[in-house]
Amino acid sequence: MKVAIVGATGMVGNVMLKVLEERNFPLDELLLVASERSAGKVLQYKGKDITVISIPAAIEERPDIALFSAGGGTSLEWAPKFAEVGTTVIDNSSAWRMDGSKKLVVPEINAAELAATDKIIANPNCSTIQMVMALAPLHEKYKIKRIVVSTYQSVSGTGVKAVEQLENEIAGKEGDMAYPYPIHKNAIPHCDVFEDNGYTKEEMKLVNETRKILGDDSIAVTATAVRIPTAGGHSEAINVEFESDFDLAEVKSLLDSTDGVTLQDNLDENLYPMPMYAHGKDDVFVGRIRRDVSQANTLNLWVVSDNLRKGAATNTVQIAEYLIKNDLV
Ligand SMILES: NC(=O)c1ccc[n+]([C@@H]2O[C@H](COP(=O)([O-])OP(=O)(O)OC[C@H]3O[C@@H](n4cnc5c(N)ncnc54)[C@H](OP(=O)(O)O)[C@@H]3O)[C@@H](O)[C@H]2O)c1
Repeated sequence: MKVAIVGATGMVGNVMLKVLEERNFPLDELLLVASERSAGKVLQYKGKDITVISIPAAIEERPDIALFSAGGGTSLEWAPKFAEVGTTVIDNSSAWRMDGSKKLVVPEINAAELAATDKIIANPNCSTIQMVMALAPLHEKYKIKRIVVSTYQSVSGTGVKAVEQLENEIAGKEGDMAYPYPIHKNAIPHCDVFEDNGYTKEEMKLVNETRKILGDDSIAVTATAVRIPTAGGHSEAINVEFESDFDLAEVKSLLDSTDGVTLQDNLDENLYPMPMYAHGKDDVFVGRIRRDVSQANTLNLWVVSDNLRKGAATNTVQIAEYLIKNDLV
């Protein structure tokens, strides 16, 4: 099993290296790939030095699986070229997510859709993954009508440059800006670019990807995505209306028994999810679970997850593990 990480020098790529190592991923050879700028740089995997190579050099090696996290443009250009030599690409960018011929996969929810013929598989957006992880078991039981979600997103979701911007601002240093405004001591209601309808691309990802993953276009979703100066993970305030009524104890028990979800909901002990707890962990944490007092069949939740882990690297690696386990690669 020959595996390539394309974008190995980036925020997500770096966490992919850690996740592969922690999970003792069954690989014989690991290729670390980045732009021409980084070719020759040396990174470590399981204590061994590996030299970063360029994309064309990696394609010549014909890896079995390529884990992509190098931006949408790189993915659009290069993922099909890997696929042509027989590599299965699992892509973290938004390039293929809404392509009708590509699967958009959160393994706990819809891995069963995967087939050996899928040569480019899309990993959903980080904010979407953590939301559907919490909502999928509830959708199955009570059927979702409408979701209103507000996000509080970590700077690590924008990549290396944004983390450096925050660090520079905290240290009072000049530097490159990833955002149009300072992020230190600020909240910026602008994640990704604006679209014609006044929403940002990030907000529309929450709308469209949620429907695709849950396989239900009737679900109404509206979102506001906000960047805040945290580094450990994204948080989401979710208001969800169901077709049928629910029992709060049953909701908690459903979430508690869902793989990959951890319930953190004990008001007596001030226990609720926060990025400082989620940081470095693979689970999606859910708390502040309460009935909406203003509307029937409606629930409020607070959902936190490490965007670089379950929101990106871990989900991608889990897809790869599923492919191997089911002889799909
Ligand atoms: N951060 C998150 O929470 C998150 C979550 C889900 C999905 N994603 C997606 O994952 C991707 C990477 O995000 P990131 O946060 O890791 O960004 P990042 O820290 O800026 O890293 C970008 C990576 O892509 C590589 N790259 C850029 N242009 C390239 C090219 N032309 N050819 C080959 N490699 C190239 C960079 O290599 P060099 O170092 O050589 O420039 C670097 O390794 C993006 O598509 C992003 O939307 C990110």
